[in-house]
Amino acid sequence: MKQYWQDVDRILVSEEQIQQTVTRIAKQIDEDYKDKDLIILCILKGSVVFFADLLRKITVPAEMDFMRVSSYGSGTKTSGNIRILLDIDHSRLKTSEILIIEDIIDSGRTLSYLCEYLKLRGAKSVRTCTLLDKPDRREVEFIPDYVGIVIPDEFVVGYGLDYDEKYRTLPYVGVLKEEVYKK
Ligand code: PRP
Repeated sequence: MKQYWQDVDRILVSEEQIQQTVTRIAKQIDEDYKDKDLIILCILKGSVVFFADLLRKITVPAEMDFMRVSSYGSGTKTSGNIRILLDIDHSRLKTSEILIIEDIIDSGRTLSYLCEYLKLRGAKSVRTCTLLDKPDRREVEFIPDYVGIVIPDEFVVGYGLDYDEKYRTLPYVGVLKEEVYKK
């Protein structure tokens, strides 16, 4: 059976670079959330790997919660219509600071929608953190509060990111070979 790495053209962000980035962001979060009631919110599925690494590096007390959203449409382009498949526990929204953890920001629509959604439901504060940012693909203006690495507009997989649900388990972020998605 073909291994995932065989479909990777090249490594864009190495395991070492990822860990350095996670450490840097964790330090910033520790500084900013001293003496606050923090909930770190994982947006399934893509951010689960980054989330799991990050939560083990932050030292401030934090609770965790999960949401799963999906955008209508498929393939390599999102349509911008977002549906909530798994929701956060609303009972804590008014008393806790929410920090949304994402693996990547592309069009910006998912995070714009989620920030608005949580604020409308009374969240005390909402901030956002992403490992990867692809500003070239923005369709709505969105500036995350914590950014790991700004990347060019390439089709990336690994470290939680998928193509057709595959490649999430790769330990690095790699560029997918064009022949895989341009069949
Ligand atoms: C990806 C990623 C973000 C979103 C970013 O999720 O995890 O949630 O797309 O794109 P946007 O800025 O254009 O909204 P995806 O919908 O692929 O689901 P997944 O996390 O389950 O892979």
